[in-house]
Amino acid sequence: MKFKLPIREAILNKRTYDLPGDGREGMIRLDLNENTSGCSPTVPAALGRLSPKKIAMYPEYRKSASRIARYFQVRPDELLLANGADDALRIFFDACVDAGSEVVFAEPTFPMYRFYAENFGARITALRYSREMDFPLDDLLRALERKPRLAIIANPNNPTGTLLGARALKKIVNTATGTAVVIDEAYADFSGVTVVPWVRRHPNLFAVRTFSKAAGLAAMRLGCVIGNSQSVRVLRGTVPPYAVNLAAIVAAGAAIRDRQMLRRYVRDVKKLRAEFTIALEEIGVQVFPSAGNFVLANFGPAGVALFENLERRGILLRARTHDIGPGFVRIAIGTRAEMNRLLREIERNR
Ligand SMILES: Cc1ncc(COP(=O)(O)O)c(C=O)c1O
Repeated sequence: MKFKLPIREAILNKRTYDLPGDGREGMIRLDLNENTSGCSPTVPAALGRLSPKKIAMYPEYRKSASRIARYFQVRPDELLLANGADDALRIFFDACVDAGSEVVFAEPTFPMYRFYAENFGARITALRYSREMDFPLDDLLRALERKPRLAIIANPNNPTGTLLGARALKKIVNTATGTAVVIDEAYADFSGVTVVPWVRRHPNLFAVRTFSKAAGLAAMRLGCVIGNSQSVRVLRGTVPPYAVNLAAIVAAGAAIRDRQMLRRYVRDVKKLRAEFTIALEEIGVQVFPSAGNFVLANFGPAGVALFENLERRGILLRARTHDIGPGFVRIAIGTRAEMNRLLREIERNR
């Protein structure tokens, strides 16, 4: 080709995000921490009521955003809707990160933090969870003294399941005087721990939430940022006017109206998570305590072949060979039938 695309250096140097391929339909999908029992039936019903005229018009957000804000017990001006938590995370890079700015997170964690940091040419400080999957709190507190632009913490963390409690979070917030602290609460429905009530008093603290996990709306793509109203007003400046589609908002509205189903699903996941953990431990597999809708387990080196076998038998798990070690795997908590089938197949294939 004759022409040369004027691509930013940060992008030229980048690896692409390795998304699991298509063709997962019909399999037992325990690889992406989805709600495998499906969303509330009120969601497709609400989507079905969307009229051709409504779909033809640019969406109006005010009423739905107020309802979602009420659900999170914040004011509408403390909420910023985004196209999934993925997109909500990008907002902080748009707003805070220049090429060469320092961005801090602890790995292994959700790979989008590194993905965006690389896109923006940030200087990455990647701390490490311990072998026991404890959060490197002292390392973070030390790093915060340098006032990096951005610190992102998944709480609970994916894939380790690690949860930071209020004391550790308070220490972080009080130390971070020159840093935007983003607590990615994608799994907060399962942990019950959230910084949302603190954001009003802490202008540089933010929670990122999603409707992809407990609410079971991963395909609809809706997430949000919750923060101090003045800070949210600044962030809003980076977001295009119609960043979120109407279907996502209608779906979220229906999902949060069905509180009962949400509560039941969270309760069931927690119960199954405990039972599944015991079942794995009984056959000698190490399982790390998790506050999410998934567990991290260590099957030892023989695990690698086991996970491939399971995949051939239609069960998808997320092997963590590349970022934790061979034999480590993240397993989402699916339905009772899915977890029983998985346990049977593990016993058969070990
Ligand atoms: C910690 C964490 N944050 C964010 C996301 C992305 O959520 P969304 O589907 O809303 O983009 C995930 C999805 O797995 C996640 O694990």
